Amino acid sequence: MWLLTALLLWVLAGAQADLTKAVITLQPPWVSVFQEENITLWCEGPHLPGNSSTRWFLNGTAFQTLTPRYRIAAASVSDTGEYRCQTGLSVPSDPVRLEIHRDWLLLQVQSRVFTEGEPLTLRCHGWKNKPVYNVVFYQNDKAFKFSPQNSEFTILKTSLSHNGIYHCSGMGRHRYTSPGVSITVKELFLAPVLKASLSLPLLEGHLVNLSCETKLLLQRPGLQLYFSFYTGSKTLMSRNTSSGYQILTAKREDSGLYWCEATTEDGSIVKRSPELELQVLGLQTPTPVWFHILFYLAVGMVFLVDTILCMIIHKELQKQKQWNLEISLGSGPKKNVTSYLQEDRYLEEELKCQEPEQLQERIHQKSLEGGQQ
Ligand SMILES: *[C@@H]1O[C@H](CO)[C@@H](O)[C@H](O)[C@H]1NC(C)=O
Ligand SMILES: *[C@@H]1O[C@H](CO)[C@@H](O)[C@H](O)[C@H]1NC(C)=O
Ligand SMILES: *[C@@H]1O[C@H](CO)[C@@H](O)[C@H](O)[C@H]1NC(C)=O
Ligand SMILES: *[C@@H]1O[C@H](CO)[C@@H](O)[C@H](O)[C@H]1NC(C)=O
Ligand SMILES: *[C@@H]1O[C@H](CO)[C@@H](O)[C@H](O)[C@H]1NC(C)=O
Repeated sequence: MWLLTALLLWVLAGAQADLTKAVITLQPPWVSVFQEENITLWCEGPHLPGNSSTRWFLNGTAFQTLTPRYRIAAASVSDTGEYRCQTGLSVPSDPVRLEIHRDWLLLQVQSRVFTEGEPLTLRCHGWKNKPVYNVVFYQNDKAFKFSPQNSEFTILKTSLSHNGIYHCSGMGRHRYTSPGVSITVKELFLAPVLKASLSLPLLEGHLVNLSCETKLLLQRPGLQLYFSFYTGSKTLMSRNTSSGYQILTAKREDSGLYWCEATTEDGSIVKRSPELELQVLGLQTPTPVWFHILFYLAVGMVFLVDTILCMIIHKELQKQKQWNLEISLGSGPKKNVTSYLQEDRYLEEELKCQEPEQLQERIHQKSLEGGQQ
């Protein structure tokens, strides 16, 4: 017996850890109805085995009913209030505020609070279900939709711009106007911002991490965001769970405007980042091929001319040396001969490093001097 109790407690404790929230659904789905209309509340949530007992609360106080279905027949003002429910293995549901009205016209909605991306249906409903024509829907007293026949209008994807107070007017026997309903649209995540891992501008050849940064504002179990990266008309990465994209080696052609998108799995919310300008600088300015070819040709020519001139001058010098020697041996003093020879040798040394033009000049002068003497 003791063991059985312990086992039961352990099972209960285990279940407690992942208790889900019960959920109330309405039938018909509207959170406000006219007096004398019928409405049924359903409670969904996990039950204890063999016990479908459900607890209901109105304005925080439990009341008798133990079935998952709570029916209000011919609603009265006293049924107005905040309803919650709880099943055996759930925590109490979020409250549903039910309003019972006495009027000619009623703007009905399925909920007063939405998460962006969810649809919002507005129903301009007449007392005793009387048909209503030429319906006008208003947001913050500004008409935004005229509907001659249909008294229902659906905003397919709500966004923050749909926050406000709504009402409707329509023709029955007269033109009637409904009371206002306050609608709140909550943001699920912030619009992303695209960031680069390196400060801009960047140099060619570097690795760049781009990240699509956003922030979740509401807790949603199992919520998964998907990220896409774009540049120009190109998609770099499409719908990936990773919020990062790598440019392995940045090239000058990678320069341009980049942006990213964050979306929910069903695509009901798509948010785009502002553009980020990526500028990739080259390491050096490239020179055209023809420039290289011309440059090496010119260097080659200079070298060739240089060599030929050198050979010619060398031969000339050899001849001159012999000639000088013959003259001085014949008539001049010995001192002169040695000095000439020394100068010539000096000239030959210089030949190795002098510019051809300068050399030519020097040699020309020398030979003139030699001739004069
Ligand atoms: C509410 O339900 C009852 C039957 O339970 C029905 O007779 C009555 O017409 C319904 N009222 C409305 C407004 O639909
Ligand atoms: C529940 O509270 C609302 C105000 O929050 C009140 O108008 C309503 O009468 C209450 N309902 C009951 C049954 O006490
Ligand atoms: C079902 O569970 C509730 C508590 O959630 C309890 O009060 C009730 O006695 C249980 N009924 C049965 C038949 O076990
Ligand atoms: C880029 O991201 C990778 C991992 O995704 C990381 O290893 C690397 O250090 C990052 N580089 C820079 C420059 O931030
Ligand atoms: C998502 O990104 C990761 C790394 O950034 C990559 O390995 C993976 O292949 C991508 N998946 C798809 C479907 O593109």
